[in-house]
Amino acid sequence: MTEELGPDTGPLLPDWLPPEIDQTKAHPARMYDYMLGGKNHFEVDREAAEVAMQAAPAARAMVLENRAFLGRAVRHLAEAGITQYLDIGTGLPGEGNTGEVARAVRPEARVAYVDYDPIVAVHSRALLAGDESRTAVVLADVREPKTILEHPRVLELLDFDQPVAVLMVALLHFVGHDEDAAGIVAAFRDALAPGSALVISHGTDGGQPEVSAAARKGWDNAKSRVVVRDHEEIAALFGGFELVEPGVVQLPLWRPEDPVREDWETIWLEGGVAFKR
Ligand SMILES: C[S@@+](CC[C@H](N)C(=O)[O-])C[C@H]1O[C@@H](n2cnc3c(N)ncnc32)[C@H](O)[C@@H]1O
Repeated sequence: MTEELGPDTGPLLPDWLPPEIDQTKAHPARMYDYMLGGKNHFEVDREAAEVAMQAAPAARAMVLENRAFLGRAVRHLAEAGITQYLDIGTGLPGEGNTGEVARAVRPEARVAYVDYDPIVAVHSRALLAGDESRTAVVLADVREPKTILEHPRVLELLDFDQPVAVLMVALLHFVGHDEDAAGIVAAFRDALAPGSALVISHGTDGGQPEVSAAARKGWDNAKSRVVVRDHEEIAALFGGFELVEPGVVQLPLWRPEDPVREDWETIWLEGGVAFKR
């Protein structure tokens, strides 16, 4: 008997779905995957992502620039000698993921992927099966740092007495203004050894609050809403860390490897990389 794959079944999706996969609500990981040109999303995610993309035509460029920043940042850390990564809000596994980039420089690099979306865990575990000595996939929420920092798989894979890079790339804008993003980052900072690193990218309103608000409506009914923070608020998230040059900047300006796009001002995401000394 031939099994037909439904229209919402991408190549990585099983033709059955575990009950924890919610198709009735848009999910940030699946919206992001749609915007990146991936195949793992449902109608509800596409509709929500389209709201954002209609309001802010540069939305797709932003997710591509974000992914490129992640690559440059991880390469920078790997070249600086970091072999342990705690990638929180990892998203659906795709090209240029943290392990791929880090291992191009340091084949022994170990990565714990953490996300609160069960679909990310399902896909990541399937893809990374057999690589358990270098990879862990953990279903957990960044708003509960203790759960992550004390998770048996995280502790099995990562040695917190040695430098660990914590990645929060395009993550903290899903943490509301009343949810103490700075306190969350600080909880991770306090668990890190000297020489550890922090990578953050985060949405801003690009100086156009009305357009930004219209675009963010795409996430109004999603599992988490998107909030923006301004430059000072994003820079403050790095408290207790020492930023590497050029500090917190709009992503295309962070150590570009190619000529910087002329319209870099339309990329409403800022980020940076920092070390705990
Ligand atoms: C925009 S994607 C970014 C993916 C990846 N970090 C990147 O930059 O390419 C945001 C991810 O954060 C996850 N996320 C959002 N809120 C979260 C939370 N409170 N705890 C853990 N993960 C979360 C989403 O499920 C999604 O996979």
